[in-house]
Amino acid sequence: MSLTGTFTEATSVETVNARHAACTNPRLAEVMSALVRHLHDFAKEVHLTQAEWGLAIDFLTRTGQICSGQRQEFILLSDVLGLSMLVDAIGNRRPAGATENTVFGPFHVDDAPRRQMGETICLDGKGESCLFEGRVLDLEGKPVAGATVDVWSDNAEGFYDVQQPGIQPKGNNRGVFVTGEDGRYAFIGIKPVSYPIPDDGPVGQMLAQLGRHPYRPAHMHYLVTAPGYQRLVTHTFVGGDAYLASDAVFGVKASLIAPYERLEGQATQWRSPFDFVLAPA
Ligand code: BEZ
Ligand code: FE
Repeated sequence: MSLTGTFTEATSVETVNARHAACTNPRLAEVMSALVRHLHDFAKEVHLTQAEWGLAIDFLTRTGQICSGQRQEFILLSDVLGLSMLVDAIGNRRPAGATENTVFGPFHVDDAPRRQMGETICLDGKGESCLFEGRVLDLEGKPVAGATVDVWSDNAEGFYDVQQPGIQPKGNNRGVFVTGEDGRYAFIGIKPVSYPIPDDGPVGQMLAQLGRHPYRPAHMHYLVTAPGYQRLVTHTFVGGDAYLASDAVFGVKASLIAPYERLEGQATQWRSPFDFVLAPA
């Protein structure tokens, strides 16, 4: 009996992808066929050994096993491979002038406290105080009223409140603000500090083996939403941070580096002004 379409090293891609002929979801067939092609080409290019593939399977198994309601190691893996930022860039090509997106990260919470404009988000009293203020604008420079500005940062020791339940007050260094007619937002936080991404799992081991550090440059997170506009997921970065050029998750964009001005003789030590420009939906 002669068999056509059997598997050989030379025909591996065509043989596997021919099985997708009956798939009724064209997008799934397209994505999976391209994935098979790239995976097979990758294995052929590096002459992948069975021992190496075994190590990779073990790594992926441990990556899944450490995941929980509080921890998502696969997203972290995507982040450190630059894939999160690439998918973000593909999905958020914005007109010139609109504020750029960056990586969301794992430390946002859906039920952060709603606060009055100008209020402080820092509840643990640690760190150098900083006034964050600016406007939410449209592409024509007009203020966007009713925009929700959801902010979060680490504390002065480099941890988010959700990483230290029982140590930090719940809601520390986070808050939700809603703009008025002038589109302005303002709150008192701290000048954020650089910190390592969670590196006590398989992703941290991988970074160490690759000679990579796990640090992110200091940043304030923002999720800015308003009806009729694209959702903006971004940060502002502290200029001069030692990790700006080597962010472990590739989140830095030059347009997102914010000024930090020293305030002399005032209760608040720093001021960081930044306007957010939303693209229409
Ligand atoms: C963050 O900035 O909070 C973050 C982003 C990606 C991975 C880990 C942390
Ligand atoms: Fe962060």
